[in-house]
Amino acid sequence: MRNEKVVPVIVKTSLSVAAIFSTNLAVASTTMNLGWAVPLDTQYGVFAEKFKELVEEYTAGDVEVKLRPSGQIGGEDEAFSALQLGTIDGYLISLANVSPHFPELDVLALPYIFEGPEHAYRIFDGDIGDDMKDWVYEDTGVHMLSFNVFSYRDMYTTDREIHGIEDMEGLKARVPKNEVMIEAYREFGAEPVPMAWSETPTALQTGTIDAGDNGTEVILSMKFYEFAKNLVILNHFGSSVPFFVSDRFMSRLSEENTDAVIRAAEEAEQYQRELVGMEIEETRKQLVDKGMEISYPDKTGFVEAGYRVQQHFSEERGGRFSNLVERIRAVGEDG
Ligand code: PAF
Repeated sequence: MRNEKVVPVIVKTSLSVAAIFSTNLAVASTTMNLGWAVPLDTQYGVFAEKFKELVEEYTAGDVEVKLRPSGQIGGEDEAFSALQLGTIDGYLISLANVSPHFPELDVLALPYIFEGPEHAYRIFDGDIGDDMKDWVYEDTGVHMLSFNVFSYRDMYTTDREIHGIEDMEGLKARVPKNEVMIEAYREFGAEPVPMAWSETPTALQTGTIDAGDNGTEVILSMKFYEFAKNLVILNHFGSSVPFFVSDRFMSRLSEENTDAVIRAAEEAEQYQRELVGMEIEETRKQLVDKGMEISYPDKTGFVEAGYRVQQHFSEERGGRFSNLVERIRAVGEDG
């Protein structure tokens, strides 16, 4: 059995007599470096720590997982290509940053495509989610093992108060390099600034950008409240950070260890959803306690603009993309 390696240990006694013992110390035959772009103390870390615990338990230590938060093994913009090349084993990539490599995932980034978390989970856990996982592998050779928790990206602005869509005029908002998100901000009347995540905190501090949006806990863990006065709740983009694993890593695993890794990812996904799924309101409160002004603008204009963006991409991309839009709309919050 691969997970019960017999390790010879040479021990010198005080009498300098060499003795050779056999011991059943489990030594990992395979190591996964699991990376992500933001700090450990986020929902990313919740997933990763649980996944590590479960993989190491289910493989009795034969597969070891090393956690690499805060961009230690590269940023999200480069991660997908590195997974394709097999130079990275595993990475949690926000769906916003996957689209240059697999554009169909953009369907989940369309503004106001989800009626709420239940709607999103029906998609992730149903036929549509299974189709997406299969297509990601067929088209890119990368394994998508889980969708993970659904939440929203909240907007922050350095100075400007946003009460309705008219306040967005000319706002320089950082967006990931994602065509759907860029177009959405244009439709909102803003000036989108596509930018890698690694440049964003400095751009916010130096005033190169006036605004941006991120998962609420990323705003907190990055201390953006020190530079951005306003927290704007629009629920415009749903957010999910799927877990991707390279084929090179998966092909190094035995059949039992493959099953263990897949099972650990599915269970860590459920664990993370239950633990952090309800935390968004609490995190928003913490940001207010840190001094941010929270606003709930009139969403009418944003929702209308969101539907225009949905229609635009559905028509422009056609095929599988527009079919996915139809299927997601048909599922709805109540199934
Ligand atoms: O905004 C992004 O690029 C992503 O949401 C981030 C912050 C890298 C986390 O996944």
